[in-house]
Amino acid sequence: MTVRENQSRMPVVEALENFISGEHVPLHMPGHKGRNVMTDSWDLRWDVTELEGLDDLHMPEGIILEAEELAADLFGADETLFLVNGTTSGIMAAMAAVAGDGELIIAAGDCHESVTRGFVMSGAMPLYLFPHFDVDNCVAGGISPDELEGILKMGAEARAVILTHPSYFGTSSDLLNLVRVAHRHGVPVIVDEAHGAQATFADTGVSPALSCGADLVIQSTHKMLGSMTQTSMLHMQGQLVDRRRVRYFAGMMQSTSPSYPLMASLDFVRAKMAAEGREMWNRIVDLTEKTRDRIDEIRGFRCLRTYEQYDGVTAEIEKTRLIIDPAECGLSGTELEEILRRDFGIWLEFADQLYAVALSGAGTVQEDMSALTSALQAISDSRRKHDPGNAGSTGPDRKTGTGAALRKRLYTVRPERVMSPRKAVMGRGTMTDLRYAEGMIAAAAVSVYPPGIPFLRPGERITAEICRLAADCIDAGYHLHGAERRETAGGAVYYIPATMEDGHRAAFSSII
Ligand SMILES: Cc1ncc(COP(=O)(O)O)c(C=O)c1O
Repeated sequence: MTVRENQSRMPVVEALENFISGEHVPLHMPGHKGRNVMTDSWDLRWDVTELEGLDDLHMPEGIILEAEELAADLFGADETLFLVNGTTSGIMAAMAAVAGDGELIIAAGDCHESVTRGFVMSGAMPLYLFPHFDVDNCVAGGISPDELEGILKMGAEARAVILTHPSYFGTSSDLLNLVRVAHRHGVPVIVDEAHGAQATFADTGVSPALSCGADLVIQSTHKMLGSMTQTSMLHMQGQLVDRRRVRYFAGMMQSTSPSYPLMASLDFVRAKMAAEGREMWNRIVDLTEKTRDRIDEIRGFRCLRTYEQYDGVTAEIEKTRLIIDPAECGLSGTELEEILRRDFGIWLEFADQLYAVALSGAGTVQEDMSALTSALQAISDSRRKHDPGNAGSTGPDRKTGTGAALRKRLYTVRPERVMSPRKAVMGRGTMTDLRYAEGMIAAAAVSVYPPGIPFLRPGERITAEICRLAADCIDAGYHLHGAERRETAGGAVYYIPATMEDGHRAAFSSII
């Protein structure tokens, strides 16, 4: 065994120390923003296991059950489960609880990667319903209730429908009507409300999933409400889903030694929201609205406020996030994100070619938003000074620019499903250069990150169109998430596990 040098180094610790030592305006997750939203009395001695009197997350009968019941009461659920492995674990548990091998789940085509994982883990078969694409704003809108109705009427024997509400960009679907349609056919609705727990406390422009009648709702409490990263809640209501099965699978997706500090942070945040949630979130929505108004006054910038949900229906972008379009300042979203971070110490949640996204959260203060608007004003002024034609003219075009064209293709490509995601991943295949994989079947999900919505999922045929799309994304400098990057003399190439219909070699056991 070789002993590595530099054993005194702690790369993660050093990076974090370095990270917090710099100037840092946090407009990204988690919701506490590095401020103590919860309590000053955190104590390392809280890091214990299931000792006498401390209950057991996997069979709660005492204090944990009581804390979960208080949360259910606050959010309006029949029953709530605490999760210490994120919404990812809740989504996978919910899917495994409703569908087994080969059974159908209808999923929003823009769902998060955790839904793809849920298909692989459960063996369920996906039928994707793709959200309407708003061409003017170049964002994915919502799923049409009529389309869902059509599919269910045709006799699709779906075990559940799973939807994202709201999306990363703050768009959503007409959930109330989607739930009505699904319930008319006796089909339960699972909602990935990772970004939407705050809707319980203020008008965020997106109605809370539980109030729309969704059966299973999973919220990343950590993303917005201020609990520790990895903490989420899974809410349940109604009779369409076997709740004991959900609890069973939720247990399977989490450690048998769940962290008490994480559970305590959920308990704290629930109590805080019960006491101050309305006042807090009305203040944050108001602050974010005022910031949006201010940004719109700065030459060269504008914020996305509404979008076409589907067929002429306009809806509001979720109000606690700022989707900043810097095109008229002659910048792409990623360029703006870099300038803000490098020159002003302002860290956004994410950016792509067209937009830069800032998130508020429980820890957001007026100074964060003022820092953002001052920086945008300074960027606008300096760009006009150096190039008087700028800030008011150029930049990536939402309709015709390369970024827009690629984004549209990413959201509207419709691969053919050949086999279940699980069968593809567990099948016999090989690591394959994506450029030459035409005709094979993907055994992994591939997405452009951000925003991380897959354009190819396990079990789908890799068509010539997909190969071209992947090549164009690589040429445009996008990072392909889910594929293995290999450097060659001709530049980076991406390999993914892929399989043929039946036969060939095992996926993940690369023969290259
Ligand atoms: C839409 C969506 N769903 C689910 C998740 C997973 O949430 P978590 O990080 O709590 O596991 C994310 C994470 O970013 C997300 O954006």
